[in-house]
Amino acid sequence: MFGWNIDLGLDIGSSVTRIYQRGVGIVLAEPTAVAFSSDGQELLAVGSEANSMVEQSAGDTRVVFPVRFGVIADHLAAAQMVKEMIRRAIGRPMLLMPRVVAALTTAATPVERAALRSAVQSAGARGVRLVDRTLAAAIGGSPVAPADHGARLIVSIGGGITEYGVVSQGRLVWGRNLRFGGHDLDEAIRKMMRNRYGVTLAPATAEQMKFQVGAVVASMARSRLLIGGGEVYGELFRNLKITLDGIPDLLGRALSPVINDIGWALAEASAEQRAEVKSNGILLVGGTALLQGIPQIMRERLGVPVVRAREPAHAVALGLGTILQDPTKLSRDGHRYGGAT
Ligand SMILES: Nc1ncnc2c1ncn2[C@@H]1O[C@H](COP(=O)(O)OP(=O)(O)OP(=O)(O)O)[C@@H](O)[C@H]1O
Ligand SMILES: [Mg+2]
Repeated sequence: MFGWNIDLGLDIGSSVTRIYQRGVGIVLAEPTAVAFSSDGQELLAVGSEANSMVEQSAGDTRVVFPVRFGVIADHLAAAQMVKEMIRRAIGRPMLLMPRVVAALTTAATPVERAALRSAVQSAGARGVRLVDRTLAAAIGGSPVAPADHGARLIVSIGGGITEYGVVSQGRLVWGRNLRFGGHDLDEAIRKMMRNRYGVTLAPATAEQMKFQVGAVVASMARSRLLIGGGEVYGELFRNLKITLDGIPDLLGRALSPVINDIGWALAEASAEQRAEVKSNGILLVGGTALLQGIPQIMRERLGVPVVRAREPAHAVALGLGTILQDPTKLSRDGHRYGGAT
């Protein structure tokens, strides 16, 4: 245990990459972004710094977002980004390259699994183990030891993807993913603003509006602020009076396909499993779960109790932290941690 081995948990999300260092905690949580010089020869920045270069880039930089819908889309860029993030997170020279437990998209294809493994290896990891992201979220999202939990449905709504599945006694029983996340909520806001006011928002502006509203149910909205006079969102709104009133309901409606999908999956599960999930409930995680009201509409539509993890956005990374304490308890396929075999 003496400072030789550095063991890391790695969750490379569509929006945010998080690194957990064993014995330390979450040491990095930054946008999944990397900036290169336009000829691609030089890595200029990663994370927030790279993300902020999108707007100011004047042809001499190229900002890459290497993960789409939870899956690595640009292998080389992902590997370089992860390597630099690890270097920054550790902040000191490493005698040995780190061992890594990385979170893999639920229901990933063999090609997606290989892509993640190879990107993490190319980033310099000495050993790589993959764990299903829904299982990691189940472990990190509640304080009870995973092996002691009966069947629960874990639902993770991130930035680019929603992953969900049943975890029982530390084992992923089944899982699915669908291409829906906070990014789609931002798009719904942009579309509404275009139709209603004829303005085209930058994606980041729409995301800010979403944060400001903070809910998918009108009665829980944090702010109904009238935006206007150019004060809040700059020049674009100088001559507009915009109300945020319709936005929570808009977001609630945009979430419908996800809730329907979960409903269908539950309907396909065995009667036993359905009954167990109904009594143990749904655990909600992911950055999008920070919006108020999602548990309420899920409970209403699915008839299942829903609890939100204490730190929904960090649940996967925290779960990786627990797994790092004893990675030998993780099964080869990354679908089981401890518990019965
Ligand atoms: N306070 C907040 N309120 C509403 N949405 C939020 C809040 N904080 C973050 N989000 C949204 O959460 C999303 C990112 O969530 P998360 O960090 O779980 O994603 P990720 O793991 O990178 O993505 P994915 O799991 O889809 O690959 C973004 O769409 C962001 O706008
Ligand atoms: Mg995620």
